[in-house]
Amino acid sequence: MVTRTVDLRSDTVTKPTVAMRAAMANADVDDDVLGSDPTANRFEAEMARIMGKEAALFVPSGTMGNLISVLVHCEVRGSEVILGDNSHIHIYENGGISTIGNVHAKTVKNNSDGTMDIALIEDAIRDPLGELYFPTTRLICLENTHANCGGRCLSVEYTDQVGEVAKKHGLKLHIDGARIFNASVALGVPVHRLVQAADSVSVCLSKGLGAPVGSVIVGSKSFISKARRLRKTLGGGMRQVGILCAAAFVALQESVCKLEGDHRKAKIIADGLNEIKGLKVDAASVQTNMVFCDALKGSNIIVSKLCEVLEEHGILIMPICSSSLRIVLHHQISDSDVQYTLSCIQQAVIQIQADAGKGAAVEHMNGKV
Ligand SMILES: Cc1ncc(COP(=O)(O)O)c(C=O)c1O
Repeated sequence: MVTRTVDLRSDTVTKPTVAMRAAMANADVDDDVLGSDPTANRFEAEMARIMGKEAALFVPSGTMGNLISVLVHCEVRGSEVILGDNSHIHIYENGGISTIGNVHAKTVKNNSDGTMDIALIEDAIRDPLGELYFPTTRLICLENTHANCGGRCLSVEYTDQVGEVAKKHGLKLHIDGARIFNASVALGVPVHRLVQAADSVSVCLSKGLGAPVGSVIVGSKSFISKARRLRKTLGGGMRQVGILCAAAFVALQESVCKLEGDHRKAKIIADGLNEIKGLKVDAASVQTNMVFCDALKGSNIIVSKLCEVLEEHGILIMPICSSSLRIVLHHQISDSDVQYTLSCIQQAVIQIQADAGKGAAVEHMNGKV
């Protein structure tokens, strides 16, 4: 019988803390679609202040935050957005910017650190002289931290450089900052400085920060007033949403200071996995709360099998493909969970390799090989 659960599938799996639940129960609320929910209004004002922007808007999800942001910047038909070929917006958001927003995506290769080469971004910008044929470039999107690149951080220097390119060409810059607080903590740069060059940022509250629901988008007052209208169009206007904002408020106060601990634990896991024969983590890529781990060729480790064995011990991990998996740390994973996980992985690998060895011996005896 499983007596312990260590859920490392994502930082979205956290349960609201006692303080969050208490804040939700006691939240002062009203109708936010009418603009009169006091908790939502206070929370949005606080997020705008922290992020260094004029205004903020609570939205149900990061996906909606990105979609609204892209659509506000690309309101003219025939607009094009430059974004990474490995970015969340491009891969995991159902192509909403094109299917719902009629926005054309121009992808640029993401490097393994989550950046796109500045020269390639500039090359991707459409020449306005060709407007008879080309879509019109209006927006560049970055992602910080970059989830598919192992949760790596984009530096403030890089972000500023992309901001300068955007400005030079009259474009807007949006940052998918689902985990921007992780980046800020890992880089030691205040979050408002990290996003200074951006016209808009979407920030997930329900990831590293541990709130149960929601994201916030920030930008200028005029950006947010257009975003508010689009949120309503998309069905994201919620009435007594202060209940959710109250939990997010607590998340902001409780969790930012815990992110450093999540990053430290991610490094311990990475180092521990590198001690296990047959597994490999690029330790340099572990900058925040994510660990991507490969099963080496010839190791006989099938990742789906490994995850199945671990689940029997209450450890939940997501396979990415047959030869790699992703582990994500969050504030509800303790140091002892980390040690337990490493020891279970070690044992599971030994068991899988032994089973594979027995299978090979039986095949040999049966004359199959
Ligand atoms: C980088 C990034 N952006 C956006 C999202 C979308 O957030 P949501 O799941 O709240 O729609 C995610 C979700 O995992 C993400 O990792």
